[in-house]
Amino acid sequence: MTTGPALYEPKIIIVDDLQSLSRRAAGFVVETLDPLAKPFVILPTGTTPLGMYKTLSEEQNGPRGLWNRLLAGQLDEYIGLEQGDDRLFSGWLSRVFMDKVGIPDQNRVFFRSNAADPAAEVDRIERLIDTKGGIDLAILGLGLNGHLGFNEPGSPLDAPTRVQDPLSPETIASNAAYWGGEDKVPSKAMTLGLGTLSRARSNLLLVSGEAKAGILDRALTGPVTPDVPASILRTHPNVTVIADRAALKYILA
Ligand code: PGA
Repeated sequence: MTTGPALYEPKIIIVDDLQSLSRRAAGFVVETLDPLAKPFVILPTGTTPLGMYKTLSEEQNGPRGLWNRLLAGQLDEYIGLEQGDDRLFSGWLSRVFMDKVGIPDQNRVFFRSNAADPAAEVDRIERLIDTKGGIDLAILGLGLNGHLGFNEPGSPLDAPTRVQDPLSPETIASNAAYWGGEDKVPSKAMTLGLGTLSRARSNLLLVSGEAKAGILDRALTGPVTPDVPASILRTHPNVTVIADRAALKYILA
């Protein structure tokens, strides 16, 4: 008989709606990182975390000492965009959060989208994470197809930071709205790997809305499988899920 990895129950924080999720997530982030001398956080893009960034920027701009010492990295980035391209996730994170709270430039860990050799670039990020002593908190969204970062279904569960080529049709379609058409969405990306996220000291998954209810249920109650990349979180002993009632529809039923 073969035995799989040990499985853990993530801590689930139930909130009423996206607004409460944003406030609760902002509080969680400060509570987790503020006690640490040199915290290292990983940040996602997306509509789900937007209110959290707004709350952190506007209401919780008190822990100034935290923002000055926080090392903040991005979860994922498209490949092949030139510096200054509006579609860069690094630019989005800077605009909605890092510039607002004043994360020093030298503490921002970004993929170089236009790196000549993307494979070398993902290795650089993986090594940098190790050199800095590892990730304290990785904040994650959940894709409609179960992806974490740009780790699409089928991604190896133990992979380090990697190139995802191609992105899935669902991911291209859901990102098209931002950029005015599917043809404007780059077809490949760099992402922290599922193995990288497994080695983070803690993970925070944010999920909102009924459209995510089915995939959240599969991630939290189905088999741990590359078909549902987010299911990897159940092999990690320190995962918190903040989700609204709509997203938890099946789990609370
Ligand atoms: P969303 O993206 O927050 O915009 O829904 C999540 C994801 O696709 O990872």
